[in-house]
Amino acid sequence: MKNKQLIEKVVAAFCNTHQKKPIVIYSPGRINLIGEHTDYNNGFVFPAAINKGIVSGIEKSNSEKCTVFAMDANELLEFSLDNINPIKNGGWKNYVLGVVAEILKTHTIERNFNIVFSGNIPVGAGLSSSAALENSIVFGLNTLFNLGLTKEEMIFISQRAEHTFANVKCGIMDQYASMFGQENAAIFLDCKTLESTIYPIDFKDYEILLINTNVKHSLDDSAYNKRRAVCEKIALMLNVSSLREVTEAQLDQIKSQVSSADFEKALYVIQENNRVLEASKALQKNELNVFGNLLYESHSGLQHQYKVSCEELDFLVEKAKENPNVIGARMMGGGFGGCTINIVKKNELVEFRKSITFAYYKQFFQQCSFYSLRLSKGTCEVKI
Ligand code: GLA
Repeated sequence: MKNKQLIEKVVAAFCNTHQKKPIVIYSPGRINLIGEHTDYNNGFVFPAAINKGIVSGIEKSNSEKCTVFAMDANELLEFSLDNINPIKNGGWKNYVLGVVAEILKTHTIERNFNIVFSGNIPVGAGLSSSAALENSIVFGLNTLFNLGLTKEEMIFISQRAEHTFANVKCGIMDQYASMFGQENAAIFLDCKTLESTIYPIDFKDYEILLINTNVKHSLDDSAYNKRRAVCEKIALMLNVSSLREVTEAQLDQIKSQVSSADFEKALYVIQENNRVLEASKALQKNELNVFGNLLYESHSGLQHQYKVSCEELDFLVEKAKENPNVIGARMMGGGFGGCTINIVKKNELVEFRKSITFAYYKQFFQQCSFYSLRLSKGTCEVKI
């Protein structure tokens, strides 16, 4: 569904239920060109917001409780502001509750409120529908109650919500990209300082194509948190605040004190950070081939060293590599399923899709999906 229709749908549903027009917030999902699992190591990432997102309608209410209605899941959440706790296996509800709980740690929400939301981000595809939802809630409440939060404060609230209520110790990339995205551009972000550089993205004869494996192996959260813990342990052994501060030579000095699996993971992070820097230089110089090769190298590191890939993702990247019309590809996001990002020659797109559809089905007896995207603006209020 197009964003315009999505907005109309949410507004209509809100008016229908609450007899009032809401404030409307649009918050996008994200892709990431390169720099995976580097954000929580204070490293570099290269994400962009996309033209698929979450639309939330929000208004104050006089009722006894706050309500949040998820149109797509057809689920209603009701809660009191003075009693907010995570819900076991609560899914989307924990992102909302987490954001509200985090806001209440430092600010007062003076009244109850109603929210209705819906989205067009494929769920489970690794496009950060959770960050989009969190950002839409915090942005909406900030606007509605004049909380005076800056965008930076808002993304940290969203991130902490995910840590405390969803138990995923995520970095800041998703929330940052969703909040600060810009049209037709990607963001080179230093996660240590939050300094960013905007890169207009125009791959000329090539374009970005996402391929969704349509699998989500039970990762997940625990595997993610374990990876983070390994990185933190090694940083501690090296007496630095994060792996961002470490060179390969320094890591080598403790090689005998760590398992080879942990060593490879830390090495991956150091090398991936360097790849993001190289990738930004390649884009500046319009060296698309260099950029593409870095994507392939990134995937290889995620597959063999960091071990967060899966056979479906590896298969798609292998197929891309075999195809002369693809310049680079890799798995994207946390891993264990979701999408690959591919840089594909525009006028060969149809053929490429055809051949992948066929090969993927033959291998896994399952369909994959394709998304062509536009890079888009970040979280904002939509005037209706
Ligand atoms: C998930 C997390 C991000 C980031 C990526 C991996 O999307 O939410 O913070 O760590 O995985 O790069």
